[in-house]
Amino acid sequence: MAFVVKLPCLLLSSSFVHPCSKKKTTNVRKYILSSCLDASLEDPNKHHFLHVNDLTSAQLFHLLQTALDMKQQWKQNGKYQEKWLDGKTLAMIFAKPSARTRISFETGMYLLGGHALCLGEEVGIGKREAVKDVARVVASMNDAMMARLYAHSDLLELARFSKVPVINGLTDYNHPCQIVADALTILEEKKRLHGIKVVYMGDGNNIVHSWLELTSLVQDLEFVCCCPPGYEPNKTLLDLTNRCGRGKASIQHDPWKAVVNADVIYTDVWASMGQKSSLEQRLEIFAPYRVTLDVMKATGNPSVLFMHCLPAERGRECDDQNARTKCHFIILSWTVAE
Ligand SMILES: *[C@@H]1O[C@H](CO)[C@@H](O)[C@H](O)[C@H]1NC(C)=O
Repeated sequence: MAFVVKLPCLLLSSSFVHPCSKKKTTNVRKYILSSCLDASLEDPNKHHFLHVNDLTSAQLFHLLQTALDMKQQWKQNGKYQEKWLDGKTLAMIFAKPSARTRISFETGMYLLGGHALCLGEEVGIGKREAVKDVARVVASMNDAMMARLYAHSDLLELARFSKVPVINGLTDYNHPCQIVADALTILEEKKRLHGIKVVYMGDGNNIVHSWLELTSLVQDLEFVCCCPPGYEPNKTLLDLTNRCGRGKASIQHDPWKAVVNADVIYTDVWASMGQKSSLEQRLEIFAPYRVTLDVMKATGNPSVLFMHCLPAERGRECDDQNARTKCHFIILSWTVAE
């Protein structure tokens, strides 16, 4: 429970420290490159959180350390000393369903002294009202916004026209809050991120893109996306990640080879939001990538972690048995999610 509420607030609070009054243009590639060059610290206008590597490496580790400190504080006192978000409001726009994201953001805002508005599909972002108009209206009355949208380009537009911080609550392209939370779990369990090998099994989807973003920030992190041919993540992003010269990312198709020496086996549902229609076909294609106890054993690492960003479909992407025996880690990954 403890950390559930913290990550979004940290992101928010750091944004509030550096408020931006100017419009800015957001460009994924520019950010990846600028983070490679560590130029982002020099950009005072950079206050949105749309990709993991909108943070610099130093900012990421600072954020994680702050989260650990706050978690400790919560354990000791059952509350936070500082109401960092006193009197602040966060508008949450959900074009897709959400459980963990809504719960964690809303609870976090409350516990840190602020308030969160939960806006669902009725906002009709990009349909009933143009994205930029939604951006202007929400920004005129709220201190920050979080959005879960389909098209990443809509999120970029929202950020471009918002004078308050925008946090990415998942798009079809990536899911940065999830992966930063997962990084915290790994840090807690393994005491380090450097030199850790993470093997993702399944579809090269938005989760994988944020893993790549993280890999571009962490020295010697090894990230392997083990997916069926034809389901690889964005190649440009993969190349840019490796060009950063910190972590190493690769694609493999053979699960038994990929998982050797893994510290973490990570998976996601085989058909995520919006893809349920082609389910039958996908079940067949992804069957060899199911995380079973045999897969866990094939890592050769007795302390390997199993993580899932959830919601899980037990018996599909992971054995129900695996899910139960490693239940601790499933709980961990959703406890800290987002
Ligand atoms: C792939 O990633 C690059 C770099 O992040 C981005 O500019 C591009 O739009 C992405 N392509 C797709 C289809 O999402």
